[in-house]
Amino acid sequence: MKYIIANWKANKTLVEAENWIETFIAILNSNEKIKNSLINDKLTVIIAPPYPFIIPLKNKLGNQKNIFMGSQDLSSVEEGSYTGEVTAKTLSSLINYAMVGHSERRANFNETEEWIEKKIDLAKKHGIEPILCVRNNDDHIYDGVKFIAYEPPSSIGNGNNEDVSKVIDMKKRLSLKEGVKFIYGASVDGQNCQDYFKNSEIDGLLVGTASKDPNSFCSILEKV
Ligand code: PGA
Repeated sequence: MKYIIANWKANKTLVEAENWIETFIAILNSNEKIKNSLINDKLTVIIAPPYPFIIPLKNKLGNQKNIFMGSQDLSSVEEGSYTGEVTAKTLSSLINYAMVGHSERRANFNETEEWIEKKIDLAKKHGIEPILCVRNNDDHIYDGVKFIAYEPPSSIGNGNNEDVSKVIDMKKRLSLKEGVKFIYGASVDGQNCQDYFKNSEIDGLLVGTASKDPNSFCSILEKV
């Protein structure tokens, strides 16, 4: 099984989000390769849009085998008087996966390990699978996390994807426990994705820029 995550980041209007999912569904319906990968448990797709688009996208998508909604983050607080926060409890009936600790949050919002640990605990408590994003082996790997996304910040969003050999070196340094899924994510596109798919040590890809367009995102899915 390969896990492919679409991380839209802070992009799109509602109309653009709806257009994306309509095109995505049309591609799924006509692309036998992607359909078969989903049906035969070779591919899991996780779509992580901005929060307000989770419900409309989920409704349009309906029940599709091995396609899930995710969030790009969640709150480190359980609930209560925390204006603006979106909690794991709020998200629990809407998503299956949540990204936690993305480098853009660590860098721009001073996200600390303390918060990240709380987010992971709350996600699990509310039945959401956390996908922990790490920049390198200095970031803490928490026990019980089943998905680790390695995202070297120097390779994010600039087309300079990291060589598979370096990605595998980092996987070794992360010393992941048996069964933990290892995902790579930085400047992945329809051209370079095959290098990662060929390597059985890499369980999936986290896609930012190339996920904004459903055609370029699906050009990755069809190569699984
Ligand atoms: P990118 O983003 O694909 O644009 O490099 C990846 C990410 O930050 O999740």
